[in-house]
Amino acid sequence: MKLTWDLPLDADGIAGELDDGTPFVVRPIRATDGPALATAFERMSARSRYLRFFSVRARLGAELTERLTDIDHDGHRAWVVADPTVPSEVGSNEGLGIAVARLIDVDGEPGVAEAALVVTDEYQGRGFGRLLLELLVGTARDVGIEFIRFEILFENRGMRGLLSGMNAEKNEALSDREVLVYDLPVERDDASDGVALGALYEILRFIAKSETSLTEEE
Ligand SMILES: CC(C)(COP(=O)(O)OP(=O)(O)OC[C@H]1O[C@@H](n2cnc3c(N)ncnc32)[C@H](O)[C@@H]1OP(=O)(O)O)[C@@H](O)C(=O)NCCC(=O)NCCS
Repeated sequence: MKLTWDLPLDADGIAGELDDGTPFVVRPIRATDGPALATAFERMSARSRYLRFFSVRARLGAELTERLTDIDHDGHRAWVVADPTVPSEVGSNEGLGIAVARLIDVDGEPGVAEAALVVTDEYQGRGFGRLLLELLVGTARDVGIEFIRFEILFENRGMRGLLSGMNAEKNEALSDREVLVYDLPVERDDASDGVALGALYEILRFIAKSETSLTEEE
């Protein structure tokens, strides 16, 4: 897939479209995204929630919601994707929240960050998972992460499908029968992978800074 980024950038995020023309907006997650995240979680099937969190839960809960949204964008970075053609459930004017991807540095393993991604059910199978993976690889490249780690349930065919064909290697030491761990090396040579790289981390910082200055002015 080739992504097209609709520049210039601003604090509202980056507009793009999938190969089939589906429009989307992507930006770093904000502390104020809690209600959108919580409602997106409740919209998801029990199966998708289980595959993402490895547990059955009906709601995210206030504490986890805060941990997932109020982040430093340094050791923990996250992107949210919205569909601008569908109204948000929480009154935001940027559209319906449909996907999240994050990268969290692994303690004690410099250069390794763990990924988590989720696409809400009605948007699965359209290429958003691939988009998120490309965002994470681009971000990892920008911040010097050498390996992206994926912990996935053995039964997660979607995630295995997404990782297949990539250079991810199974980490035998950390895997067991239920949970498979894969480490994806972040290639420095970006010429051949079809990803439109736009110094994503710079974008992340740009947007985060715009938010900070907006907050300071208030
Ligand atoms: C896994 C997940 C992120 C994939 O997102 P998606 O938007 O459905 O994936 P895409 O449409 O981009 O598909 C990417 C590739 O994976 C493959 N794939 C996707 N779902 C699949 C499935 N259920 N079985 C087999 N392959 C699948 C597709 O064939 C596609 O390959 P292609 O590009 O060669 O055609 C999404 O299904 C999801 O959020 N699942 C629940 C949460 C989860 O499992 N998160 C991962 C654990 S952290």
